[in-house]
Amino acid sequence: MLRLEQLSKNFGGLPALSQVSFEVFPGQVTALIGPNGAGKSTLINCMTGVLQPSSGRVLFRGAAISSLAAHQIARCGIARTFQNLKLFPRLSVLDNVLTGLTCEAGSSMVMAMLRLPYLRHRERRLRLRALEALDRFGLGDKADWPAAVLAYGDKKRVELARATVGNPQLILLDEPVAGLNAAETAAVGEQLHLLRRAGHTLLLIEHDMDLVMKLADQVVVLDSGQKIASGTPAEVRRNPRVLEAYLGCMEATA
Ligand SMILES: Nc1ncnc2c1ncn2[C@@H]1O[C@H](COP(=O)(O)OP(=O)(O)OP(=O)(O)O)[C@@H](O)[C@H]1O
Ligand SMILES: [Mg+2]
Repeated sequence: MLRLEQLSKNFGGLPALSQVSFEVFPGQVTALIGPNGAGKSTLINCMTGVLQPSSGRVLFRGAAISSLAAHQIARCGIARTFQNLKLFPRLSVLDNVLTGLTCEAGSSMVMAMLRLPYLRHRERRLRLRALEALDRFGLGDKADWPAAVLAYGDKKRVELARATVGNPQLILLDEPVAGLNAAETAAVGEQLHLLRRAGHTLLLIEHDMDLVMKLADQVVVLDSGQKIASGTPAEVRRNPRVLEAYLGCMEATA
């Protein structure tokens, strides 16, 4: 579904990603792990048009998307969440989720002002879908709240509702459970399991190894901008380079 070819990104001459290549297969969960600063978010940003790669290519269903703008990539069917939340604070929770459906909602300003019956009908349908997405993440009763007043864990889940509401072909999740308490983590984990079971394709960045090991079909490990390993969770778990670079650090701090 997605193929990265020799992707590199430099910031002011410093390499954040060096020639990273891997594939994301349809219907699978691919986990991207690695220590802080390894380049994981940079990779997602290069895939979604937030950053331009310095070199290399990103192919989505065989077509190069590396030079497209973020909104064009979203229109291709790739949705994402952000590690540092990016909600519209003054919009309601429901309207934030509706922004995940803008590709389907598109109509001209004039048409929107005319409020034609079929547009009203479509708007109702989209609102219903947004409400269903919020319900899935246990936020249906907060649909009318301004996003700014939500607790951190709720904001994370609004991002997940927004990323999944449009039924995208590929969902990129940048640390979806970071900062959540145990109950919230379990609830989000359950939703991710359901997405997986429903056949969605996920690329998951996460430091929660328990979640990664349970969910992932394939794990790709980055360290200092380089891919140091990839394989099944069991393979990666016993890879000495990974233990040294990442899991070892965790065991040492455990
Ligand atoms: N916009 C930027 N300008 C300059 N340097 C950046 C920028 N974004 C990231 N970096 C640098 O690139 C490297 C990779 O950062 P990145 O955020 O991709 O890491 P990460 O693997 O997502 O880490 P974390 O687990 O902490 O989220 C880091 O050294 C970071 O300081
Ligand atoms: Mg990151």
